[in-house]
Amino acid sequence: MILGFNLKMNPATERSYKDLIAIHRQVWLQKNYRAIKKVILFSPTLYLSAGLKQSRGLSKLSIGAQDGFYKDIGAFTGQVSLLMLKNIGVNFVIIGHSESRRYNLDDFNRVKLKLRRALELGFGVFYCFGEQAFQDHYDKVINAEFEYTLTQLKDIKNNDKMGRLYFVYEPCWAIGTQNAPPDYINRVITFVKTQLKTKYNIPNSICLYGGSVNSNNIKDLATIGLDGFLIGSASLDKSEVLKIYKHFNVYS
Ligand code: PGA
Repeated sequence: MILGFNLKMNPATERSYKDLIAIHRQVWLQKNYRAIKKVILFSPTLYLSAGLKQSRGLSKLSIGAQDGFYKDIGAFTGQVSLLMLKNIGVNFVIIGHSESRRYNLDDFNRVKLKLRRALELGFGVFYCFGEQAFQDHYDKVINAEFEYTLTQLKDIKNNDKMGRLYFVYEPCWAIGTQNAPPDYINRVITFVKTQLKTKYNIPNSICLYGGSVNSNNIKDLATIGLDGFLIGSASLDKSEVLKIYKHFNVYS
């Protein structure tokens, strides 16, 4: 199981951020949850260095960035490049999160450029995609997305020097609101895995789910063959984080 905790634009101070990391640090210092392969704390850019320092020596705990720009350096005011992130020691990044698409105006093309650069630089990439509304046809949305991005990344996936793609299904209508029903998620993930295998020659894709995952619903969700979760709001609540870990202790 792979767990990503997406802190989004939280918390407001570095001190509070360090308190959040301390929870994970404490967990990994005390126990080795064998059912969990990796935990990535996707942190605000400003706190990345502090996070990297605090997680040092804990092999299963990594610090990730929430986005990164595809150009390495140059006249791109306000951007932080993937290369800069890599150079300070960050190895995981989220690309295509629905909030980045919405607030940073990431369209298919920019998502594709970011994916390419991130993989070239060797990142583990949490590639997020999903339909806007419950009524949307997820199959059409996902097909259009993959056709635009993955078709042009074919050279990369056959090159093992490149980073690794984690496919994160995040239906926008379920982010920060309500959890999507497990059987629905199961249907979409089966569709995604089949598309990746048959159309893009990715037979062993790693597929995660994100959208209002918490300590209550993770129990049911963990039974539907997902490879992991991307957890947003619940990441900010210490007792939620501990309960989520505890769940995997019981089932390890
Ligand atoms: P949420 O966020 O758990 O608050 O729905 C998930 C995400 O945005 O990655």
